[in-house]
Amino acid sequence: MEVDTIDKLTSHSVYDYDGNEKTPLYAKNDNDKTVLKLIIGFCMVFCIGLLIILLIHIHYGPHQLVPHGNVASDDAQCSKYGTDMLKIGGNAVDAAITTALCNSVVLPHLSGLGGNGVMIIYDHRTGIGKTIDFGAAYSLNSSIGVPGFLIGLYYANMKYGILPWKTLVEPSINLAKTGIIVTKSLRDSIIELSTTKLIKDKNLKDWSDTVLNVSRDQVIAVPNGLIDTLTLIYRHGPIEFYKEMSKELELYLKPDDVTGYQPFILPMLKQNIMNYSILTSNKGTGGPILIDILSKINNTNNMDTVSLLNGIKNLSVDWSAENAGLQVSTTDVFDLYVTIISGLGSVFGSRILTKSGYILNNALDLNYKHQYINQTARIPSLHLPFIAVETGKICGRRLISGSADVRDGVEILLSMLKTDPQDIFNVNNIPRFRLNYSDIKIEYPNKFPNKIKELFVKSGYHISEAPLPYPTSNVVQKVGDISIAFSDIRGSGKSITI
Ligand SMILES: *[C@@H]1O[C@H](CO)[C@@H](O)[C@H](O)[C@H]1NC(C)=O
Ligand SMILES: *[C@@H]1O[C@H](CO)[C@@H](O)[C@H](O)[C@H]1NC(C)=O
Ligand SMILES: *[C@@H]1O[C@H](CO)[C@@H](O)[C@H](O)[C@H]1NC(C)=O
Ligand SMILES: *[C@@H]1O[C@H](CO)[C@@H](O)[C@H](O)[C@H]1NC(C)=O
Ligand SMILES: *[C@@H]1O[C@H](CO)[C@@H](O)[C@H](O)[C@H]1NC(C)=O
Ligand SMILES: *[C@@H]1O[C@H](CO)[C@@H](O)[C@H](O)[C@H]1NC(C)=O
Ligand SMILES: *[C@@H]1O[C@H](CO)[C@@H](O)[C@H](O)[C@H]1NC(C)=O
Repeated sequence: MEVDTIDKLTSHSVYDYDGNEKTPLYAKNDNDKTVLKLIIGFCMVFCIGLLIILLIHIHYGPHQLVPHGNVASDDAQCSKYGTDMLKIGGNAVDAAITTALCNSVVLPHLSGLGGNGVMIIYDHRTGIGKTIDFGAAYSLNSSIGVPGFLIGLYYANMKYGILPWKTLVEPSINLAKTGIIVTKSLRDSIIELSTTKLIKDKNLKDWSDTVLNVSRDQVIAVPNGLIDTLTLIYRHGPIEFYKEMSKELELYLKPDDVTGYQPFILPMLKQNIMNYSILTSNKGTGGPILIDILSKINNTNNMDTVSLLNGIKNLSVDWSAENAGLQVSTTDVFDLYVTIISGLGSVFGSRILTKSGYILNNALDLNYKHQYINQTARIPSLHLPFIAVETGKICGRRLISGSADVRDGVEILLSMLKTDPQDIFNVNNIPRFRLNYSDIKIEYPNKFPNKIKELFVKSGYHISEAPLPYPTSNVVQKVGDISIAFSDIRGSGKSITI
């Protein structure tokens, strides 16, 4: 099931975790040498390609040299920052990092410096891909895990990106200084929070009051401390930020657990279904759960809602916690595809806003066993990044997407596979459902198909309306050289194709 064991994706400079640069074609074992040959092979193809582009350029003028790529995310400005990175020579990894960091400024209730996540990076030309796991790690006995978000993004940039780290951080600082637009998602979340739960943390209470004090689409200041924190990250780098974090959060996390945190690089998982190879993230995430569900429903009843429900129902996964997050999809001219999922656990995580201006996760609340394993072990999440590649055709259909919750992810994946490429936008309009023991939460109750509602009730489930905001999934689809990108109508996002 695991695709590959090598540690390199592209011919770009490769860095160690501690930042030592290695030569781009550094080879340490036979596996690497195979890659080396592939890289050299592709370089030659690439060089010939460049020559052709150059000739076309000379013939037709500068238009032909516009770099191709896509960014789909939950915020228009952040997607634009992502494509800016592609335009100045960055790759899909750089674009995804820039966009994800920006998203965490605009949508701080769903993702951020106090959160966690996972990404997959896939090189379609070589078929090589990786899981970068920056899930929260266990520490002291509380619901808060060691945040992996920033160091995960940094690590991905060091190892697989092209642009300098500072270039990726700068747009988020500028945005934080101008202030953020109050989105429907943020407002809905604060209303839900203040009506269902107590906000004990004074910082969070104060900031959420300022948000509720203005109407939607107005600009508000980011939480106190965040601009300084981002500036520290820009000037001194993530390692310095983790040192500061270890001091600030010693009530919640063992300082050594914070400064010792490292992301994992793991292979991707791969499974075939319906003429597609499904590539997804490794253990401790929604990836293995997706593979389980797919094998349960493989070849059953046309893989309809009923078989999906049975496939989800029979897993030994605890669905009881609220699970939330953000997703970003990017592609570039090198045919590198990236999808990042990031989150804080539930909406607003642990509902603690630090003096440094970010919200702490409640990753352990989503872990049903709720037990400490060890310092390097990850707290399991339901995060699901995925890429679907039509088998047998190198230029066939490819889909880059994912979801913070594997239940949503599997619905989106199956509806996309069953939808013709030209009708792909329709998957946005299909209301989703989330099973939780004998309860099913449905989206858009008035639009949700009656036939399926009746079926749920007949099968003994209690149905109710899912709380707002609904989770979002953004998509890039490529067929041949034609790409389409779109953002989930559930968010306020936008996708950009250049
Ligand atoms: C945390 O520690 C307390 C006392 O040591 C214990 O009673 C409790 O069960 C622990 N909680 C968790 C979630 O491990
Ligand atoms: C809400 O707005 C009013 C009027 O602009 C202002 O006086 C007040 O301080 C604001 N409250 C908060 C919590 O921001
Ligand atoms: C898979 O591809 C084959 C041959 O191209 C086709 O006959 C078959 O209908 C496809 N199956 C599905 C499930 O799309
Ligand atoms: C589905 O069935 C096909 C054909 O039997 C098999 O090749 C594939 O691995 C199965 N996929 C899953 C997800 O179990
Ligand atoms: C799920 O489990 C039930 C019993 O709890 C069983 O009847 C059913 O066949 C199982 N479904 C699948 C798809 O494995
Ligand atoms: C899921 O169901 C369990 C048991 O009925 C309940 O305690 C929990 O609050 C539910 N979770 C959500 C997110 O609705
Ligand atoms: C920590 O837990 C992980 C996952 O169970 C395991 O692979 C690893 O060996 C453990 N490390 C130590 C130092 O016990």
